Amino acid sequence: MKKILVTGGTGFIGSHTAVELQQHGYEVVIVDNLSNSSVDVLDNIAKITGTRPAFEQFDLADQARTAKFFREHHDLSGIIHFAAYKAAGESMEKPLEYYRNNTGSLINILEGMRDNGIRDIVFSSSCTVYGQPDQLPVTEDSPFKTAWSPYGNTKQICEDILRFSSQLLPVRVIALRYFNPIGAHESALIGELPLGVPNNLVPYITQTAIGKRECLSVFGNNYNTPDGTAIRDYIHVVDLANAHVIAVERMIREKCKSRMEIFNLGTGEGYTVMEVIRSFERVSGVKLNYKIVSRRPGDVEKVWADTRLANEELGWKAVRTLDEMMLSAWNWEKALAQRQ
Ligand code: WQD
Repeated sequence: MKKILVTGGTGFIGSHTAVELQQHGYEVVIVDNLSNSSVDVLDNIAKITGTRPAFEQFDLADQARTAKFFREHHDLSGIIHFAAYKAAGESMEKPLEYYRNNTGSLINILEGMRDNGIRDIVFSSSCTVYGQPDQLPVTEDSPFKTAWSPYGNTKQICEDILRFSSQLLPVRVIALRYFNPIGAHESALIGELPLGVPNNLVPYITQTAIGKRECLSVFGNNYNTPDGTAIRDYIHVVDLANAHVIAVERMIREKCKSRMEIFNLGTGEGYTVMEVIRSFERVSGVKLNYKIVSRRPGDVEKVWADTRLANEELGWKAVRTLDEMMLSAWNWEKALAQRQ
């Protein structure tokens, strides 16, 4: 059985990817420091797949500890690297923590790969590298725009580190640029677990609907969009997880066309904030309490993916609709409420 390291594997996207990997016959080893996730996720992965993934709790920014891990796991067939700090707003308060954590852990992993002959890494990147693109839908060859936050900048820097590593070291890379991942596993056993007040739209919607929050603030209705609210390309987390399995298989089967490949992962459809709210109300039957407030600093007006490269090269396509995303997010929120 081929063994894949999933860093950040107890997190939102990592846990869904661990499930899909196991269901496709891979052995999964998770490394996570649990800084933004719970160890209980492992039991819930096991409930879905019948197998509890191997787990080691440590910080990948710890160089010596990471080196030890790689010496013990030199037989890895590949790595999917999710583990990172991810809140743009928080990175404005803790810029150096973001730079140290996100770039430091990547460098430690690359050293571990170099020193132990592990060749393949899939990297969690983001459409945030594009900023507000000049042309929509945005293609992978659109230039990076000056990052608005240290968080976004770490994704750009990490891609640069990976580009040179792929040229100068025996390392091969697939960087996946996610648009807006939402939703949850259909079992409602795993999903997004934001600590404290959510920054992202969909957990804020579901928490408001269940009564944990008073009212959703819609950030701006004077954008140049059909209803004035901002447009994003929302993608179901299970569709996203499946793209990672395909990326790993592409590397193992020697299908890569260059030493570093980059793919957008979105649906290719943009929806406004109001369309997301309407979809939620439709599938849940709950009337959402919301109000329009001013724009959130740093938000772009509209972005959605050109997904042709992922569709044609990876042979992958997002298949789940916005309604399915919202329904699964709602089922997850309700399951969480029953557990607490
Ligand atoms: C979506 C839309 C908001 C909350 C961020 C990161 C990005 C990323 C995914 C990271 C926007 C609006 C939101 C609310 C609202 N990757 N909104 N009220 O900002 O597109 O992307 O998360 O890990 O890098 O920047 O996602 O879900 O925060 O916002 O009106 O309470 O919803 O203005 O238009 P965003 P989001």
